[in-house]
Amino acid sequence: MNTILYKQQLSQDVFLMRLHAPLIAEERQAGQFIILQTDDDYGERIPLTIADADTIEGSITIIFQVVGKTTKHLATFNVGDKLPALLGPLGKPTHIENFGRAVCVCGGIGVAPMHPIAQALKNAGNHVTVIIGARTEELIILQKEMSAIADELIICTDDGTAGIKALVTAPLKELCEQELKPDIVIAIGPPVMMKFCAETTRPYKVFTQVSLNTIMVDGTGMCGGCRVNVGKEVKFVCVDGPEFDGHLVDFDNMIARLNAYKEIERTHYKCFVEKAFNKNVKEVQL
Ligand code: FES
Repeated sequence: MNTILYKQQLSQDVFLMRLHAPLIAEERQAGQFIILQTDDDYGERIPLTIADADTIEGSITIIFQVVGKTTKHLATFNVGDKLPALLGPLGKPTHIENFGRAVCVCGGIGVAPMHPIAQALKNAGNHVTVIIGARTEELIILQKEMSAIADELIICTDDGTAGIKALVTAPLKELCEQELKPDIVIAIGPPVMMKFCAETTRPYKVFTQVSLNTIMVDGTGMCGGCRVNVGKEVKFVCVDGPEFDGHLVDFDNMIARLNAYKEIERTHYKCFVEKAFNKNVKEVQL
């Protein structure tokens, strides 16, 4: 178990892996995630959404971007290597029904967790519009797969190298202004993107669901590491989420909590790269 069956580099810093995890593959539903460790002692535990599963092969697919020490370490694993620890499926599955018109907004690596959700929405009979946003064309992933599912696919890039040169909020606003406005918007991506998607839909009163990716430790509701303020309540992303009403999430508080460990992350990343790749790192941008 936990053996890497397949590895593919999707773009400069984005990797896809299929892991042997038959029990998780059997149980998982759209929207759920796993927690893994790349070290077997006191290593960091990181949550990653299950992008796909194959019950015949007994595998789950994860897609991750190298953003720190643990994902940098994970990217060094190859086919045949085993992960020391893998826990899941965790979190509540996405609630799927025929809402009518569903808009899926994905930023960067957020396309990976959105893929099974868009597929499930389509299977339930929804008209599905997918908006994918990326800095530049080469960072767009799963475009072909999303185009096979979506009734309408809109690509936005910051530099205009693919699709329209715009932020994802621009086409989202246009869709909200149409007579047949969306019945549900689901946004997955960087916290700032999800915050502004929620702000875009708020005046139109379009229900907007966001999938939060906070710091996690145990993944079972005991450590409090993943807590977020949602409306007047404190919620734990690992057991109450990861999906919440975007109009109620206190994104500023969540972003501040995510940034609280940046200096420690930079130090660990620098030490890891210097040791593993025998390279002198002067400055780390995380
Ligand atoms: S990860 Fe510990 S409470 Fe959620």
